[in-house]
Amino acid sequence: MFRTIDKLDVKGKRVLVRADLNVPAKDGKVTDTTRIDRSAATLIQLAAKGARVIVLTHFGRPKGREDKYSQKLLVEPLARAVGKTVAWADDCIGPEAEKLIAAMKDGDIALLENVRFHPEEEKNDPAFAKALAALGDFYINDAFSTAHRAHASTEGLAHLLPAAAGRLMQAELEALGKALEMPEKPVAAIVGGAKVSTKLDLLGNLVAKVDYLIIGGGMANTFLFAQGKQVGKSLCEKDLAGTAREIIKKAEAAKCRIILPTDVVVAGEFAENAANAVVGVDAVPEDKMILDAGPASAEAVARLLEGCKTLVWNGPLGAFEIAPFDKATNAVAQAAAALTAKGGLLTVGGGGDTVSALAKAGVEDKFSYISTAGGAFLEWLEGKELPGVAALHVQPDQVRGSGC
Ligand code: 3PG
Repeated sequence: MFRTIDKLDVKGKRVLVRADLNVPAKDGKVTDTTRIDRSAATLIQLAAKGARVIVLTHFGRPKGREDKYSQKLLVEPLARAVGKTVAWADDCIGPEAEKLIAAMKDGDIALLENVRFHPEEEKNDPAFAKALAALGDFYINDAFSTAHRAHASTEGLAHLLPAAAGRLMQAELEALGKALEMPEKPVAAIVGGAKVSTKLDLLGNLVAKVDYLIIGGGMANTFLFAQGKQVGKSLCEKDLAGTAREIIKKAEAAKCRIILPTDVVVAGEFAENAANAVVGVDAVPEDKMILDAGPASAEAVARLLEGCKTLVWNGPLGAFEIAPFDKATNAVAQAAAALTAKGGLLTVGGGGDTVSALAKAGVEDKFSYISTAGGAFLEWLEGKELPGVAALHVQPDQVRGSGC
């Protein structure tokens, strides 16, 4: 259970908000503002309550202060997202930040420079966390997508100031809770992507939780190979065939049905519009590679979803970046979105390539929820406790009052 910003009396108070504005950028310009836009609600609501809102975030993985990771480029898109001027300080602690904050008025919003310019941030150094805490009266964590990091601004601060979850953190936790912790059954999970080796813990956790585990992408090749099929030149982790068989066994014991493609799209090379053919999984030619699930497999998954209540999606079903090997991902994503529109299926997607794959399929605003998180979403699917979330947990009686 976690406290939200609803009951906090923040008028005239300095509120430190840890957001995750780690957005893609090119040539000094932000190329995708999704994380900024989705962080805006918390900042707008706190400012409307009269708080002096101080935004902390990281950007990239700098080794100490590196100009190319300066967050100054975020000021303008953030100002657009919150609909007001955003003040800026060149450091997240010390005299520069203190001066800026001292000059703030109720309802103002300020952004501080990259917390990772201080190596103490990633070490969760107590003195650094204390220096950050000295700048605020409250701490709001709105960065679910960085909650798998036990850093000073994502974990340490929660122990030093009255803390609560921001709106985006709240939305992520509520959506993810509905999808896997207390889901409406039957539950299906689609797990795709290139390699089984990166998702072993995730598969192990999911087979114990879902009714159907649909495996796609390069990962499916390893499972097909483990079942004795020939996969030609396909991406395949042959050394993990034994592990794949263990996962299949674990799934059987947990009454989870693993669903693999029955037909696949093969080509001679990994290239856009490469000559291709649909073949059964028993007939993959030696000189070809599997680049997508076939139409019969996509149709079977779409039919299966009609009988499900909840779908968790992580990873594409094929090489979705290059046409025409995006067809299975698109077809299943659109079928899932249509079931969601009818009110029959709760759809939650996230992690890595998933958001781009679902956006390419044109369903990014048609799923029940799409997480802003990459690594944190994967760790959550693995069943791990995220330190940034754990630090926000409070006793039920603390939630009822402001507790602060
Ligand atoms: C992300 O983009 O997944 C988060 O911002 C975390 O970034 P990190 O992997 O550099 O900690």
